[in-house]
Amino acid sequence: MHSSGIVARWMLVPSLLPLPMIDQIDLFAAAGAAEAAAGNFDIETIPTSSSVPILPGIYDDLETLTRHCNGCQRCGLAAGRTNVVVSRGNPQAPIMIVGEGPGQQEDEQGLPFVGKSGQLLEKILAAVRLDTEKDVYICNVVKCRPPNNRTPVADETAACKGYLLEQIRLVDPKIILMTGATAMKGLTGEKRGITKIRGQWMQWEGRLCMPILHPAYLLRNPSRDKGSPKWLMWQDIQAVKTKLDELRAAQ
Ligand code: URA
Repeated sequence: MHSSGIVARWMLVPSLLPLPMIDQIDLFAAAGAAEAAAGNFDIETIPTSSSVPILPGIYDDLETLTRHCNGCQRCGLAAGRTNVVVSRGNPQAPIMIVGEGPGQQEDEQGLPFVGKSGQLLEKILAAVRLDTEKDVYICNVVKCRPPNNRTPVADETAACKGYLLEQIRLVDPKIILMTGATAMKGLTGEKRGITKIRGQWMQWEGRLCMPILHPAYLLRNPSRDKGSPKWLMWQDIQAVKTKLDELRAAQ
């Protein structure tokens, strides 16, 4: 389903075409949509350049998406990576966790959240009996490690975003958790500070989302006192588990 279905979805989601701020990427996207509709779009060109749009609905499966990510040259981060970091966990999971980008350990192993932050994330999930292999699918806003763990820049996030949107569509999670400001901003464009809106449920593209603090921030703030980052995370993860239980019960 690479042709008419894509265009229909594309047009049904007007927020994907920010007309007042139309720029070169949007023009390419419009061109890509027309090509896809005409059946001329070669999906294999996606990893070659960020000027090739990743149209909503273009991927039939995560395997093709992963193969493309593994050979991706859409942004400058490709030059410095050891491995592309696509995901870990269950592709049918009810919860998707979106982080910022791979660090050194993740780059070396090709898996997200396997370093110190990841170990803490595992403990946080385990505390409410969430199993990463079963209940969670983990990925990042960018799939290649930024040099010296710097925050990914807008061009890098934009080049990778279509992959993330397709992962969300294919995994179809009930709940998306965005860890930290970069994940929240990269996915939703939300510019309010993470400490202001963490723990709040929000709807994004018809999906239930919650911004939470990044585990790395918790590692830098070890206090467990009431109101501390760790205490706030404990409140938030309990709220997530309660919501998941409610959603499962309503099924
Ligand atoms: N931090 C992130 O945001 N993502 C990872 O995969 C690892 C650390």
